[in-house]
Amino acid sequence: MSEFASAFADFDAVQSPKLKKMLLARKSLDLLPKFARSAHLSSAQIYERERIYGAHNYKPVEVALCKGEGIYVWDVEGKKYFDFLSGYSVVNQGHCHPRLVEVMAKQAKTLTITSRAFYNNVLGEYAEYITKLLGYNKVLPINSGVEGSETSVKLARRWAYTVKGVQRDNAKIVVPANSYWGRSIAAISTSTDIDAYSGFGPFLPGFEIVPYDDLEALEKSFKDFNTAAFLVEPIQGEAGVIVPSPGYLQGVRDLCTKYNVLFIADEVQTGLGRTGRLLCTHHDNVRPDVIVLGKALSGGMYPVSAVLADDPIMLSILPGTHGSTYGGNPLACRLAIEALKIIVEEKLPENSAKLGAILIDELKKLPKEAVKQVRGRGLFAAIVMEKKISAWDLCLKLRDNGVLAKNTHGDTIRFCPPLVINEQQLREVIGIIHKTIISMM
Ligand SMILES: Cc1ncc(COP(=O)(O)O)c(C=O)c1O
Repeated sequence: MSEFASAFADFDAVQSPKLKKMLLARKSLDLLPKFARSAHLSSAQIYERERIYGAHNYKPVEVALCKGEGIYVWDVEGKKYFDFLSGYSVVNQGHCHPRLVEVMAKQAKTLTITSRAFYNNVLGEYAEYITKLLGYNKVLPINSGVEGSETSVKLARRWAYTVKGVQRDNAKIVVPANSYWGRSIAAISTSTDIDAYSGFGPFLPGFEIVPYDDLEALEKSFKDFNTAAFLVEPIQGEAGVIVPSPGYLQGVRDLCTKYNVLFIADEVQTGLGRTGRLLCTHHDNVRPDVIVLGKALSGGMYPVSAVLADDPIMLSILPGTHGSTYGGNPLACRLAIEALKIIVEEKLPENSAKLGAILIDELKKLPKEAVKQVRGRGLFAAIVMEKKISAWDLCLKLRDNGVLAKNTHGDTIRFCPPLVINEQQLREVIGIIHKTIISMM
């Protein structure tokens, strides 16, 4: 048997004599015809192909998924899992929501992109819908989360020069420690995660890092007139679902107003129902000057992000000063309208609030010798493991037991299921989490 054929995990299960013969004769996947590659690859073969041909910038849990529906995903061997990561809070509406699939197919057959060189008939409809829904004058449409946050930084710098009166090229953007807003050079210039920034310097000037959830430090930093904006996650997601103290966001709002500094809420992960309100900042009844959205804004169909602000801020960006080829294309806009309507009409924030309270309550009942902390709001929760159980090993065991979750920062596991989950399904998963942890003690 060739080395390749013996490495092919389900070689024995291959029915076709023709394919069996091919596998015996071939040395690598790319010599196989396409039908054989897609129809018969085992999970092991899929990991291997990705390892050979893909950059190693992620370390995925070993599970090769090929189908998703609602809160479930399936691997290529047909095993079904609860998805408790939701593509990092992207599929709040559930995998392959039928309404999204339908509008995507329809718009894809009609018109996908015009570029912003011309008008299209969907961008204005989307802009009107999202600005009225969230209560801002204008939206700037863009693609990924990092582009959204980066756009908010550019907007704040422009505003500082044209409105606040900061001297050109002196604007400062304040960002809390342990923030995550993507992987661009600007984003990692503010990162305190050594894996994210190490070896990628030189970094960008014009940022200052302050401790999260520390209003005193913030005020000190705001006393510098050059401060244009404070870019903050209302709950720090990648850092491990860090919820600030009650009153922090109101304090941020007050300081931003007092010192004429823009309050930019990065709601890329916390927004659109994830934490139990449409925006996480709604919990505190504060209105940031700028909102950044992404992820669930397309419900997982396609990268779509947005920056929202009022005219005095947004109009500091003029034609030719910022943009992106795909930003505001009709396909993205159609998807975003539908993704937002689903969140509102299916009352996903309400479901997140109700079931999130159950999730967090039940996680708090996990044995203290195994789980040292539970954090979260809505269906955006995390557990911090004691040293004796590795979070990575727990993710693997959860996978074996039918639940997909991923650790962040070593000892923390985030649980953020699609917001279409119901109580019975949630309780089933909670049971699996309990049993899995107890089996590891
Ligand atoms: C708060 C926040 N901002 C920005 C981003 C970057 O989004 P993207 O990965 O789509 O660039 C993320 C991604 O996880 C995020 O959590």
